[in-house]
Amino acid sequence: MMIKNDKNTANKTVKNIILTGDRPTGRLHIGHYVGSLRRRVELQNSGKFDEIYVMIADAQALTDNAENPDKIRHNVAEVALDYLSCGLDPKKTTLFIQSQISELTELAFYYMNLVTVARLKRNPTVKSEIQARNFEASIPVGFFTYPISQTADITAFNATVVPVGEDQLPMLEQAREIVRSFNTLYGETLTEPKELLPDNSACGRLPGTDGKTKMSKSLGNCIYLADSADEIKQKVMNMYTDPNHIRVEDKGDTKDNPVFIYLEAFSEESHFKKYLPEYENLRALKKHYERGGLGDVKVKRFLNAILQETLEPIRRRREEWAGRIPEVYDILKEGGKKAKATASETLKNVKRAMRIDYFGE
Ligand code: TRP
Repeated sequence: MMIKNDKNTANKTVKNIILTGDRPTGRLHIGHYVGSLRRRVELQNSGKFDEIYVMIADAQALTDNAENPDKIRHNVAEVALDYLSCGLDPKKTTLFIQSQISELTELAFYYMNLVTVARLKRNPTVKSEIQARNFEASIPVGFFTYPISQTADITAFNATVVPVGEDQLPMLEQAREIVRSFNTLYGETLTEPKELLPDNSACGRLPGTDGKTKMSKSLGNCIYLADSADEIKQKVMNMYTDPNHIRVEDKGDTKDNPVFIYLEAFSEESHFKKYLPEYENLRALKKHYERGGLGDVKVKRFLNAILQETLEPIRRRREEWAGRIPEVYDILKEGGKKAKATASETLKNVKRAMRIDYFGE
């Protein structure tokens, strides 16, 4: 879809472009699936976007994993398998590895002049990540400045839309500030991006199977896209629920209950018709649980049936792709070529605007 840009009277048009990505620090889990992957595939297939870039952010992952290069290298392939198995299609979406695009590092270097240390310290995402990693004063400079590098990622591809989770909102705010500073100082060059948030709050932040606020590898509370049918079942049947819902007759809480939050993110009316026809929808099921008389096992079996149905085709495709790893790397390499061409065009414009295009072009 091409949208005419009012600001430019000439025949210049603004394209709808998506850029987003993930740090390859582990294989992706169902929180990533409902929070971003499922949406990306929908956006990809909507036909509303002229270009879509999905990046495996290995350089960003190294900012706090400098001592673990093999872990990052290994997970680049894992994340690529997760992408392909969820339905990202290299014919429609450019999949690439961040470190292959050296222009991104160059852009970030110039953007660093437009951001103060005080501003970076105020970035709430950076602040909470510093706390979570116990970094205090030992924070690597590269990690501290990753919002700037992320702005390079976004602007290099002239992205207009960045699908992200809520935790990334401060990054988009920072990106817009950098774009405005740049354009004010050097003339209209960069495109201001907008975020696109998950449409359902359960999808925005899926809790762990233990009820903790976040799925995290170190907490061991994730269901992975690569998990086997048995692993999924076992994890679901052992899920944390309402600790005060002891007997079937007890009233139960559905709000802070991860089983119901997962149902919020995954269930559709067709699942009720198929597996639990005595309930019309999730609201009816929740009501019964809240007034008492509905056991956890029944709800967990239902959730398990839905997860099995949703994840089985993904797992099958993942296994197929896992047997064709050289092809997966070819896809990333080809994607990298296309990404590099776009990013180098942006870098050229940036250098011209900054008056460092000494030898013309
Ligand atoms: N920070 C993102 C994450 O933690 C990954 C990422 C890197 C990204 N660059 C980006 C996301 C640009 C959106 C846009 O997963």
